[in-house]
Amino acid sequence: MMSDRYAVIGNPVRHSLSPGIHAAFASETGEDIEYGRLLGDLEDFNGDVRDFFGHGGCGLNVTVPFKERAWELMDELSERARIAGAVNTITRLDNGKLRGDNTDGIGLVRDLVQNHGFDFSNASLLLIGAGGASRGVVSPLLEQQPASLMIANRTAEKAVMLADLFGGRGEICGCGLHEIGSQQFDLIINATAAGLKGDVPAIPDTCLTSGGWSYDMMYSREPTAFVRWGEAHHAGKALDGVGMLIEQAAESFFIWRGVRPHTAAVIQQLGRAPLTIT
Ligand SMILES: NC(=O)c1ccc[n+]([C@@H]2O[C@H](COP(=O)([O-])OP(=O)(O)OC[C@H]3O[C@@H](n4cnc5c(N)ncnc54)[C@H](OP(=O)(O)O)[C@@H]3O)[C@@H](O)[C@H]2O)c1
Repeated sequence: MMSDRYAVIGNPVRHSLSPGIHAAFASETGEDIEYGRLLGDLEDFNGDVRDFFGHGGCGLNVTVPFKERAWELMDELSERARIAGAVNTITRLDNGKLRGDNTDGIGLVRDLVQNHGFDFSNASLLLIGAGGASRGVVSPLLEQQPASLMIANRTAEKAVMLADLFGGRGEICGCGLHEIGSQQFDLIINATAAGLKGDVPAIPDTCLTSGGWSYDMMYSREPTAFVRWGEAHHAGKALDGVGMLIEQAAESFFIWRGVRPHTAAVIQQLGRAPLTIT
């Protein structure tokens, strides 16, 4: 019998570590799955998704830059995906309909709190970026009841619009990167795609509190540009997004297979020697 088929779809997608992570989860839990990479067509993402499921695929993870398009395409949405406006996990239901979920937020929060011990109480947060990844984490971050959350983006209007969606759910505001000014934050999360080109978003040198943490959603074999930024600015911890990636993958795996894999071993494995990136 053929294994159940899953994949990650993105563009670019060559760098994705998801296939190795899901293979590790499958071997740990004894689930029989196959998990590949799909380079999504920038013009015809919907066609690629239809094709995959039309040929028996069971589930997809969605990465840059398709999360918002995936959201529009779903027949059904989980509550957290509906709120996020972005989908990173697609499941084909028994009736053939596609259900979208978003596990990015819970992945980020689990990594920060459970794996690294971040304390959200009284913390001021800066979330940089207003794309799919950012949208997915706003609500889960607010659920941790930080003192405040500022969303700053290169295109200011997008950050303002995103913050407005969550107005009334806590101390939240949106602005352009240049409007950060002299404000300081206990945790700065980089949710931009700047790192894909080795760049750091243009934020002031002074915006981290003493001992404050930096978190780059991006990850790579070498320290990312934003991890280096955090180290250079004496962050208490300068983390990359490997832990988030593994935690969001574990939640996707749970949605698909009904089994929750243990993440610690995979995090350790990736922290020590990243799986081959092909
Ligand atoms: N670790 C994980 O599990 C995980 C999960 C999700 C995402 N991610 C990472 O998060 C990043 C963002 O993903 P996404 O899906 O949100 O992408 P996206 O929807 O394409 O959004 C890109 C965001 O980055 C900003 N941006 C791009 N280049 C920039 C630059 N040079 N300077 C400042 N801002 C810049 C964009 O600003 P404008 O609006 O001005 O264009 C936009 O806010 C990617 O690197 C992705 O790999 C990691």
